[in-house]
Amino acid sequence: MAEINLLRHYPPAKRKMTAPRSGDPANRAAALKFGAEYFDGSREQGYGGYHYDGRWVPIARDIVAHFGLKPRDRVLDVGCAKGFLVKDLMGVCPGLRVYGLEISEYAIRHCPAEAAGRLVLGTADRLPFPDGSFQAVLCINVIHNLDRERCVAALREIERLAPGRGYVQVDAWRTEAERDIFLGWVLTAVTFLRPEEWRALFAEAGYTGDYYWTVLDPDREWNDFASADAGRTAGAGQQQNG
Ligand SMILES: C[S@@+](CC[C@H](N)C(=O)[O-])C[C@H]1O[C@@H](n2cnc3c(N)ncnc32)[C@H](O)[C@@H]1O
Repeated sequence: MAEINLLRHYPPAKRKMTAPRSGDPANRAAALKFGAEYFDGSREQGYGGYHYDGRWVPIARDIVAHFGLKPRDRVLDVGCAKGFLVKDLMGVCPGLRVYGLEISEYAIRHCPAEAAGRLVLGTADRLPFPDGSFQAVLCINVIHNLDRERCVAALREIERLAPGRGYVQVDAWRTEAERDIFLGWVLTAVTFLRPEEWRALFAEAGYTGDYYWTVLDPDREWNDFASADAGRTAGAGQQQNG
């Protein structure tokens, strides 16, 4: 199990963090439907437009190298949204068999043609695949949307499908300031912990794969992020989604 930032090549998508948005319950309620509002509605209720732009290509390359993936290997992206990473993994490693799982019917319906038929409707804590059926399972900025018990279940599921070959990224905070800014911006996450608390949760679940954090930077007027939930990964100068 290693702490490694596989999203280090996520390009900057600078968005000004002006008024906090999570204070309005209507924003949270809209986001939690994981439908059109969340993906393609306003910035107050989610991504503010989630479109393919190729930003996952360098990350897909890093994932393929990190796991030593080769054609015919099977990869699952849990919480794959519209399947952009699914498409790009297949693009950078032709012959790789990549699938996604998503709770959002809307996202699946709006996937790129390359991902069509590869995205399954479901939930991260009940993965409908046999034990050991993947060479890598990715789960990027998803399980913090589940309560603690379901987080543990999701981690167990990832471990079951690909023992020691998971990559999980989660919302985290290290200082009160990071926690405060996070609370002002979070729309959908319900489990946000310190890194050491996440590690304890990983151990409780028997999760032995890799992991990294999504952390908002309270010292900057601008945060580099593209996701609906959060900010940038821990670590100077690195950007990511959330
Ligand atoms: C912040 S987005 C991250 C999407 C993508 N993994 C990325 O990094 O760009 C969170 C995603 O998790 C999905 N999601 C939320 N709850 C889920 C669950 N219980 N099971 C599977 N996916 C879920 C949402 O629909 C959304 O696509």
